Amino acid sequence: MKTHIWQVRSDDPHDPAILEAARLLKAGGIVAFPTETVYGLAANALDANAVARIFEAKGRPSTNPLIVHVASIDAAKELVTEWPETAEKLASTFWPGPLTVVLEKSDVVPSIVTAGGNTIAIRLPAHPVAQALIHACGFPIAAPSANRSNFISPTTAAHVARSLSGRIPLILDGGPCQAGIESTVISLVDKDSHILRPGSLGANELAAVAGIDVRQSGRPVIQGQPTASPGQLPVHYAPDTPLYLAPAGEMSEIMRQFKAAGKRVGLVSLTREQEFPAAAAFVEMPGTAGKYAQRLYAVLHEMDEQDLDVILCEEPPSMLEWQGVRDRLIRAARKA
Ligand code: TXA
Ligand code: MG
Repeated sequence: MKTHIWQVRSDDPHDPAILEAARLLKAGGIVAFPTETVYGLAANALDANAVARIFEAKGRPSTNPLIVHVASIDAAKELVTEWPETAEKLASTFWPGPLTVVLEKSDVVPSIVTAGGNTIAIRLPAHPVAQALIHACGFPIAAPSANRSNFISPTTAAHVARSLSGRIPLILDGGPCQAGIESTVISLVDKDSHILRPGSLGANELAAVAGIDVRQSGRPVIQGQPTASPGQLPVHYAPDTPLYLAPAGEMSEIMRQFKAAGKRVGLVSLTREQEFPAAAAFVEMPGTAGKYAQRLYAVLHEMDEQDLDVILCEEPPSMLEWQGVRDRLIRAARKA
């Protein structure tokens, strides 16, 4: 199958690229599209056969449930048995945006979407192309990140092509994603709402909304769910090149050891280059969590394309706003 990449900057549901994507989706196909977090791989969430194609193209285990993307709060309500007050509060504060809520699913949602479980993850994306696409389709869109399972998530159309070329007919190219890491996933199924996957929406912002426990992240999930959120598996977003995380103070020594072993090292640092002249590749990351997140996957993709033996990454700060970035790096890292 030839994969076409079609640039679309418009938020017009009648844009020819969006119309073509909607045509493919209405016919039960799959299409990659931009969101503000990462690129997604879309299918009609109400069509079990279409959703099966997502799992097939990604090589995703059927035990890993998908996020369903909607164009309005009312559309979200149709997918659940109950829309609690906390959901209303969160949705009216953070939607459209990088927050996913997990609630009890209604019967209209095929069980393949939720991996056989009785809960569903829903979000209303902020990206104008994503919104235009959902509007053009007229149905909710199930979409995981548009990468093969266990690979780094894509934040550009080129990243999607790198992973899924030949497996999907169309990638809508909306430029680089603004947020850069996936949405924050919150379970509202139990009485005590809690974060299942830290992400783009910062814990500080969430903490401002009453009733959300932002301290514990990645704790094992909700009753009735077949598996814990697979975003919680220890290695999940790994580059091909082994990545090691190290505290700033240990970077020079580890660097020396890698050099002595003849390794080509790619450095991802928050510190200045001059201190690490031995690196074969070097990226100085931004010092704020939001900007760092925006760059993170692109840097891992770039490093992966060079002929490196290892990636050595400086540990980011431990403050709450770095929770999402730290989570992704810890999952990407090998144990040193
Ligand atoms: O930003 C994002 O969330 C992107 C864009 C495309 O929207 N999507 C994304 O999807 O990251 P994916 O499939 O790569 O990650 C979805 C995460 C997984 O960790 C999955 O286990 C979890 O959400 N999830 C989905 N449904 C769930 C459910 N019912 N209960 C618990 N976790 C769920
Ligand atoms: Mg993913």
